[in-house]
Amino acid sequence: MANPFAVAILVGSLRKESLSRKLANALSEQAPEGLSCRIVEIGDLALYNEDLDGDAPPAEWNRFRADIRQADAVLFVTPEYNRSIPGCLKNAVDVGSRPPGKSVFSGVPSGVVSVTPYKLGAFGANHALRQTFAFLDMPVMQQPEAYIGGAGELFDDGGKLKSDETREFLAKFMAAFGNWVKTVRGSSGAQGFDAFLAQRETIAQAYSSGDAAPLDAIVTSQDPASFFSPRGDAVRGAAAVASSYREGAAMFEPPARSRLEIAQSRASGDLAFWSGFQFADVHMKGKKEATSMKLRITEVFRFEQGGWKLVHRHADMAGDQKQA
Ligand code: FNR
Repeated sequence: MANPFAVAILVGSLRKESLSRKLANALSEQAPEGLSCRIVEIGDLALYNEDLDGDAPPAEWNRFRADIRQADAVLFVTPEYNRSIPGCLKNAVDVGSRPPGKSVFSGVPSGVVSVTPYKLGAFGANHALRQTFAFLDMPVMQQPEAYIGGAGELFDDGGKLKSDETREFLAKFMAAFGNWVKTVRGSSGAQGFDAFLAQRETIAQAYSSGDAAPLDAIVTSQDPASFFSPRGDAVRGAAAVASSYREGAAMFEPPARSRLEIAQSRASGDLAFWSGFQFADVHMKGKKEATSMKLRITEVFRFEQGGWKLVHRHADMAGDQKQA
């Protein structure tokens, strides 16, 4: 079976007993096989302030941006506050949309479910959110719409749906959403390994310019993990490997060019690999001239938490390296 599309669910309420969160969980449970849903938390995101968005933005912003970057689609599940969306959700939208040109939402298929305990309500929030998608360039599913009224009556004490009728409605919505994601993403899915390799190329390019965040997002957080670096060492353990990559990126600064030449690649079950070459023209910090590198690479990935994660990289220099 093809890998499922990873759906990040953003819940527009921070309270523990949130009806929106209960609904988000119910929507996950009704998702078709081709979708793998996970709530991405937004409660820890500092209020967006451009002054903080320089070389070292808040770690929570990096984490959030990485989580959305890894997703194939975003589903917003939100209450209505004063006929609009709650500030926490707008803040998450703002954080993800910046810095200019690096929005994690651009082109990502989306859906909206809005929630109210009342008979009337939820329309304002739904459409206030849709208004942001025009600027975010997010293709949003138009039909079916989902305005969930009387939400306080839908759940039992354990937070589970009471009625089959609601379950069926949510299942239909999620089936349509799955089709929408497929329509926008193409049948292979961004998390199919071939498509992922295209993403890997972009990540390598960012890394060569000194930006470790995109690589960080695809590095495993689980052992075993290893990195055999061009220096000839062998780093072991997920935490040590991740920090070694971050230290490596810190040596570079823009501009840089990187290209992968994939000699062979294969995904089978939850494991995948590619091997080949990486050609890079990089600027080491403090050096005027660019350095041209040709590396021999083998990378191994495990499918974890809805995405391919780098568990082993072997890189060494191939042939003569020169100053460009
Ligand atoms: C609300 N509520 C509300 N409901 C609605 O249908 N339309 C609205 O405009 C508003 N406005 C509003 C403003 C503020 C500041 C609060 C705190 C609440 C009520 C809201 O729908 C209700 O509290 C929900 O239960 C909130 O969703 P969660 O937290 O249960 O997911």
